[in-house]
Amino acid sequence: MGPPGAGKGTQAQIFHERQGLPHISTGDILRQAVRDDTEVGRRAFAYMREGDLVPDEIVDEIVRTRLAEPDTAGGFILDGYPRTLSQADALDAWLARAGRSLDAVVSFEIREEALLRRLTGRRVCPVCGSIYHLDVKPPRVPGRCDLDGAELIQRRDDAQSTVLHRLEVFRRWTAPLVDHYRRRGIFLTVNAERPVVDVYDEIREFVQSRAGRVR
Ligand code: AP5
Repeated sequence: MGPPGAGKGTQAQIFHERQGLPHISTGDILRQAVRDDTEVGRRAFAYMREGDLVPDEIVDEIVRTRLAEPDTAGGFILDGYPRTLSQADALDAWLARAGRSLDAVVSFEIREEALLRRLTGRRVCPVCGSIYHLDVKPPRVPGRCDLDGAELIQRRDDAQSTVLHRLEVFRRWTAPLVDHYRRRGIFLTVNAERPVVDVYDEIREFVQSRAGRVR
């Protein structure tokens, strides 16, 4: 968990590549639903465009369905979920019923001015979801994804006014989740302003100490 642009997706992608854990990003799933013009996508579109949260029941159902797939049996990474106390309660209840539990919850901390720089410079691949940054992680060929050559795009909700609203939404609805998880002893706070590799190493060590199965 962490504010928009803190680096959640970047770290989840590295964990996915190096540890083979499925990366379940509710933001990515919702953006794909919008592109595919599904019923979920049509219901979610206006909320996402404004930087508001999509209603809990839609997102809870997406995650429940995804977590029931067999590739999550050996572990998974949730990116951007839960984001409200109601979502956290829904996840707890679902995991308890399934006889599963979370090994670690990671909170990304970063100053607001750093976030704005990250989000205005971010470019993403609409095909594979790879994340780039014009200064920090530019693609090898300008404007093209390193993996599939697709033309990189700027997310619609990365406009500065929408980013400021997303930050407010984070403070109001998601920041209170810190207390919900801190009490459980599975909680790590990382300074997300450090280089990508340093953030990764700290999270990996923590997860390893909790779950003992990551490399
Ligand atoms: P979502 O897609 O989840 O967006 P977000 O949480 O706002 O987070 P971002 O994807 O913007 O940032 P990130 O932390 O992943 O940063 P990144 O790694 O890309 O959600 C979008 C929308 O969907 C929401 O607004 C809402 O409408 C809806 N939604 C999603 N989940 C929902 C839920 N559970 N409930 C309700 N609604 C939901 O990095 C950013 C940039 O920084 C990149 O360019 C990257 O290259 C660069 N960077 C990353 N790490 C570093 C580093 N260490 N140093 C320097 N640069 C870095």
